[in-house]
Amino acid sequence: MTGLSRRTTLVKATHAAGAPDISERTMIARRQLLRFFAASPLLTATSLGTISTLLTANSDALAQSYDVLRGSRRAFGPDGIITAPADALDVFEFEPAAKKAVLSQDAPAHWGYLQSGVDGDVTRDANHTAFAKYNIRVQRLIDARKIDTSVKIFGETWASPIFMCPVSSLGAYDPEAGVTVARAAAKRNHQMILSTVDNASIVDVNKAHGRPAWFMLYPTDDWNVTRALVQRAENAGSPAIVLTVDRQGGRNTETLFRERRQDLRECSGCHTPGFTNEVSRKANFADIDVSKVTNLYGTGMTWEFVDRLRGIVKGKLVLKGIMTGEDAKEALRHGVDGLIVSNHGGRAEESGQATIGVLAEVVDSVGGRIPVLIDGGVRRGTDVLKALALGATAVGIGRPYVWGLASFGEAGVDRVLQILDDEFITIMRQVGALDITHITRRCVTSA
Ligand SMILES: Cc1cc2nc3c(=O)[nH]c(=O)nc-3n(C[C@H](O)[C@H](O)[C@H](O)COP(=O)(O)O)c2cc1C
Repeated sequence: MTGLSRRTTLVKATHAAGAPDISERTMIARRQLLRFFAASPLLTATSLGTISTLLTANSDALAQSYDVLRGSRRAFGPDGIITAPADALDVFEFEPAAKKAVLSQDAPAHWGYLQSGVDGDVTRDANHTAFAKYNIRVQRLIDARKIDTSVKIFGETWASPIFMCPVSSLGAYDPEAGVTVARAAAKRNHQMILSTVDNASIVDVNKAHGRPAWFMLYPTDDWNVTRALVQRAENAGSPAIVLTVDRQGGRNTETLFRERRQDLRECSGCHTPGFTNEVSRKANFADIDVSKVTNLYGTGMTWEFVDRLRGIVKGKLVLKGIMTGEDAKEALRHGVDGLIVSNHGGRAEESGQATIGVLAEVVDSVGGRIPVLIDGGVRRGTDVLKALALGATAVGIGRPYVWGLASFGEAGVDRVLQILDDEFITIMRQVGALDITHITRRCVTSA
């Protein structure tokens, strides 16, 4: 029961005993609210902002779950779906809002594309549920009012360890695609990785982000195209090329196919038939000859391909999609600078293996020589903390920011980041971690 509904019940009971009428009750409620603020340590806030706003505005303020702040004064529709980003209490609340927005454009196939895992979506779901296999060990009586969430990676400082994963075709959810995401990420100083096949180009995204994003590479099966993509990203300033290695061999995105059945639109207007057209219409391929490309993901890619790529990448080379200690060691041997433990959000293979479950194995295999990042199923600040405790340097989110994007554009992405940052700060305080270096394996235990 929320604080507001509890209060309503209380008022009803008092009224039965000959208590105040509606206008008097309103006055009493207002007085109670004012009294609450007068007694509140959060009094410095001039408006009824969210706890999150207060947290980030004043690093000395501590979050308190006062019901009066949790309760929203907005009228929700009968569907209970949020109508403004500020109303969201957690990132999950953006999911139905995004669905509603996408379906209102009669685009169930786009919704299916975003949500889909492969086969029965078991791996997609396992990514999140597996975080429950770890509990957090809290520490008491540590003054944790001042928290520093920044991380250093490849010489860059990020304000938060939470980064935005590459997601293809963001244009299905926002007209400016990755550029809108970049603006939101920049506002909170989060790093992002742009997909080769986003609708926005790395040049425009880097401008909107204010500093260069990392570039995620689908190499294609034409080396000239690979090289041109890398050069474009590096010329735009991108400090890291992220080769995704988990998309060879095909996949069965059943949830997408099921939603596609409901989609009555003529898709060929945007999805021009023919593989080359699919590739060439994406901004990062502009002015590159893709006529020989038959496969976006690279055909028969092996470690020799990594060597060849290593030979042309001037900045950092990161592999995304590593799920075993053996592959992590192999990556070290091939001069890779960083790894992302990922199964593509459960969209690559139906292994049933959650990313968080293999993180420690990968981290132990590289022994601190290169950073290990992770994504998949991260939905809470506590998930971020667990991943960092198990050795991740940074933690990626995919679908949650796209839910924010699809439902409310830049403001939605911004609120998703704010919620996760604030949840993360709150749990850092509870474990007594004043900065990221204090988050160690001692902070988690097996559930
Ligand atoms: C719609 C969609 C498109 C994606 N496109 C790409 C892509 O182009 N390249 C890539 O490496 N990963 C891609 N991913 C995977 C994400 O980068 C990330 O690994 C995953 O979304 C993380 O899991 P989460 O969605 O549970 O947070 C995509 C994910 C989604 C949901």
